[in-house]
Amino acid sequence: MNVSLLAPDRVELNDREEFRDAVLAGLSHSPRAIPAKFLYDARGSELFDAICELPEYYLTRTETGILKDCAPELARLAGPGCALVEFGSGSSVKTRLLLDAMPDLVAYVPIDISRHHLDATAARLRRDYPRLRVEPVCADYMALEALPIDLKGADVNGAPRLGFFPGSTIGNLEPQDATSFLRRARTLLGDRGAMVLGVDLRKDPKRLNDAYNDSAGVTAAFTLNLLRRMNRELGATFDTARFAHDAFYDPVEGRIEIYFRSLAAQSVTVSGRTFTFAEGERVHTEYSYKYDDAGIAALARSAGFTIDRTWTDPDRLFAVVYLEAAAP
Ligand code: TRP
Repeated sequence: MNVSLLAPDRVELNDREEFRDAVLAGLSHSPRAIPAKFLYDARGSELFDAICELPEYYLTRTETGILKDCAPELARLAGPGCALVEFGSGSSVKTRLLLDAMPDLVAYVPIDISRHHLDATAARLRRDYPRLRVEPVCADYMALEALPIDLKGADVNGAPRLGFFPGSTIGNLEPQDATSFLRRARTLLGDRGAMVLGVDLRKDPKRLNDAYNDSAGVTAAFTLNLLRRMNRELGATFDTARFAHDAFYDPVEGRIEIYFRSLAAQSVTVSGRTFTFAEGERVHTEYSYKYDDAGIAALARSAGFTIDRTWTDPDRLFAVVYLEAAAP
């Protein structure tokens, strides 16, 4: 269902139920896991923005540098008059680099699960880009089959669509989900569609481990905010002092694994149900897969895209790739 079409109080009820069902299922499952999208409530989104500023978290800074340099070429590749569609737009900071380089976009369509972030961001963009048509879509982009902008005019509907999926968010999907997401994006963007993808590259494990274990503890606060959210929204009884953020690189899988870990044997009640945790027991929240060139090429091909261009920083920490829809 397109959640943007529901009344706000219905959305909230829906969201709360979905959160509760996912948490109860995830804590009942073995091994335990809670889907990462629930990390991004208003506070979680704020903390995530703070992560992006951390000295250890090189991803955002590096990707921003690459985008600054490649934006003019990217704009030429995309051509004039396209609609920019961003999957998981957050605060749309990087998007501005593209908006500045592409003054003749017919529309910008940010898709985000956080209504709060989406509204605030749309308002700021409309202020800063008065000539830009901003068509926000409040939805889980992983579940979105089509863009609900069909009534907004033939100029937007007929425009070639340029997808934007920065931040190595593709790496937060397990490989088969990354392929199916990109395949759906390929369908949604159409045969004249293209996609700009930001991908974190494999590198020295120390560098990777530091990025997800910052010395200021912001990443830990981001993980533990999920426990606070369960307490607040589901009446859960997590004592955040008795759980810890736990993140490490697995070089065989090529991924950072992120969990919260119980520091003691303890029981927690969630929505009237009791869950027992052993000391050291982990609850998985997220993976962050790191790619190499061959992996990116295989991913693109499996989803019906060809790689038109790849830009990286001098240290090859991060890659921005421009994918074009392969002939169907
Ligand atoms: N896509 C980013 C990454 O994988 C964002 C991210 C997801 C993240 N979960 C995180 C960053 C947890 C820090 C901690 O790095």
